[in-house]
Amino acid sequence: MVKVVAGAQWGDEGKGKTIDILAAKAQVVVRTQGGNNAGHTVIHDGNTYKLHLIPSGILYPDTLCLIGYGVVVDPKVILEEIDALENTGIKTDNLKIDKRAHVIMPYHLILDELQEKYRGGSDIGTTKKGIGPCYTDKAERSGIRICDLIDEKVFAAKTAEALKLKNEIITKVYGGTALKLDDILNEYGKYAKRIAKYVDDTSVLAYDAIKAGKEVLFEGAQGTLLDIDVGTYPYVTSSHPITGGVCIGAGIGPTLIDSCIGVAKSYTTRVGKGPFPTELFDEVGDRIRELGKEYGTTTGRPRRCGWLDAVILRLAVRVNGLTEICLNKLDTLTGIPKLKICVAYKFRGTTIENFPATLEELADCEPIYIELDGWDEDISKCKSRAELPENAKKYLAKIEELIDCKISMVGIGPARDQNIE
Ligand code: GDP
Ligand code: IMO
Ligand code: MG
Repeated sequence: MVKVVAGAQWGDEGKGKTIDILAAKAQVVVRTQGGNNAGHTVIHDGNTYKLHLIPSGILYPDTLCLIGYGVVVDPKVILEEIDALENTGIKTDNLKIDKRAHVIMPYHLILDELQEKYRGGSDIGTTKKGIGPCYTDKAERSGIRICDLIDEKVFAAKTAEALKLKNEIITKVYGGTALKLDDILNEYGKYAKRIAKYVDDTSVLAYDAIKAGKEVLFEGAQGTLLDIDVGTYPYVTSSHPITGGVCIGAGIGPTLIDSCIGVAKSYTTRVGKGPFPTELFDEVGDRIRELGKEYGTTTGRPRRCGWLDAVILRLAVRVNGLTEICLNKLDTLTGIPKLKICVAYKFRGTTIENFPATLEELADCEPIYIELDGWDEDISKCKSRAELPENAKKYLAKIEELIDCKISMVGIGPARDQNIE
């Protein structure tokens, strides 16, 4: 079976936990887009891991973990992550990084910071990990790839060429400090020596595994509404977190995929700037943030919290071709007397059921809610959907009805066994 796991909202839906559960049966786990803007929390054998670049399957000793060419790789970060894992006894020999993946360079980090500052009040609220500037260079065809990094001569030539223009921009446009070529070559030269042994053609490895009938899992990063085309542009990331992005970022064709699992929370969160129709600014929002520990895994920023939005989930079902939903954090809603679900938007005198395309349209949208009774019982130890309180069952059934997609897994706590299948 070949399964794709994608975020259905604005990221942080609990993809790491879901992947960890599904990876128990997988032989190969593949990351295909984004970079270390992602933060995937996995509680595995009682230890908490916060993974940014390495696929969550790494916690299983025999699982092959691939970083496809759609990912942008910060070599410093991946080496730190490798060291941190090795230090806790997790082997990383099964990790492979694609030759064609683009490298996050020091000037990408600086430009991310400077561009955000330059945007002033209209900043995007990026993670400042150099993601946007790296994808910009890729599209502009001046990027530096892993295959360049591990070839000393090529890397020196390409970096020298790129740095000329970058330094002009950093100093003359933004008034920043120029970077020194030798510093970059020294630092990245050290990384290259260590990274070389992980480099491979991951498209071939993924294809061969699929052809051999192995269980292959694709681990999405970010979420549908952060997709550069689908999402709330420009408040998005620079890659394609939707399931279709997997084909491009991993180098496998769409006919090879068997199922597409959307991961969602039982409510909605967003970190960074941009519109969020069901955002809560009251004590319910605060309660969800505290009980759900809604603070960014990568940046530590408090996450904005709000009611579940079925308009967003319908969009996710459509653009990802979702075959099922994994709904996490149902436990966080326990004890809230009345739960709201946004079913449609009131828009300039009409009712719309599809997520609008522009920020201007979105600004004129007001959520239309239905209200359901909550539950007080502790659900964190339930073993089946049948064991859930009646009102929790009704909440799940209503979501399935509203989005026309079945919920196949329900998260009732952060641990891997706190999951109802
Ligand atoms: P990801 O980026 O999609 O992998 O999600 P994050 O790891 O950034 O954020 C999800 C957070 O929710 C993590 O702290 C998880 O440990 C936690 N989590 C995941 N599923 C559940 C659940 O069902 N209940 C609770 N209470 N926490 C969960
Ligand atoms: P995971 O995989 C939540 C958000 C940032 C910002 C926008 C652009 O953990 O779900 P970027 O640094 O990518 O240019 O920032 O995207 N963002 C995420 N939000 N979860 C993520 O990843 C995110 N990755 C990026 O906060 O709003
Ligand atoms: Mg996260």
